[in-house]
Amino acid sequence: MRVRPRSIVIASGKGGAGKTTLTANLGVALGVLGRDVTILDGDLAMANLGIIMGMHKCEVSFLDVLTGKADVKDVIYENHGIKVVPTGFRFEDVHDVLSKVKRERVEEIVEKFLRQTELLLIDAPAGIADATIISIAAAREMLPVCNLRNGRCYS
Ligand SMILES: Nc1ncnc2c1ncn2[C@@H]1O[C@H](COP(=O)(O)OP(=O)(O)O)[C@@H](O)[C@H]1O
Ligand SMILES: [Mg+2]
Repeated sequence: MRVRPRSIVIASGKGGAGKTTLTANLGVALGVLGRDVTILDGDLAMANLGIIMGMHKCEVSFLDVLTGKADVKDVIYENHGIKVVPTGFRFEDVHDVLSKVKRERVEEIVEKFLRQTELLLIDAPAGIADATIISIAAAREMLPVCNLRNGRCYS
């Protein structure tokens, strides 16, 4: 029987708390333990999960799914034993997505990713601006990240 997929957003109030680093490392660690994991870059305005995973040049990304130019299956890459969905950094597309894409559309796309995996980790942007709310709302669970050392404790 297929396990019910879980979607977990990794979030914090402040930037630089360690969300992206945690998303990458937790994802790879769970992959090593044999879990079917997908990590998704939900930081639409400042995407860098792909860079951290060593995927600098991906032809298509989550941004293309949001703009309707690609299908969910086209942007799932295999790397370090897990599935990775990077987000691109084209200024016009980022602006378009942030100003036009509705929360319902993101939720619909995230549901499609959940059909391809057992565990979806979403790397969120910091704060509670609209772009962050979209990433957070798309997941069913949240893993807040605190970094007390740098005073980045507003998770
Ligand atoms: N557990 C950790 N210990 C030490 N440095 C860390 C840790 N997690 C992240 N960092 C460093 O902190 C900085 C910000 O991390 P990042 O994951 O990009 O934060 P965020 O995604 O929350 O903005 C990076 O330079 C990263 O290497
Ligand atoms: Mg980040």
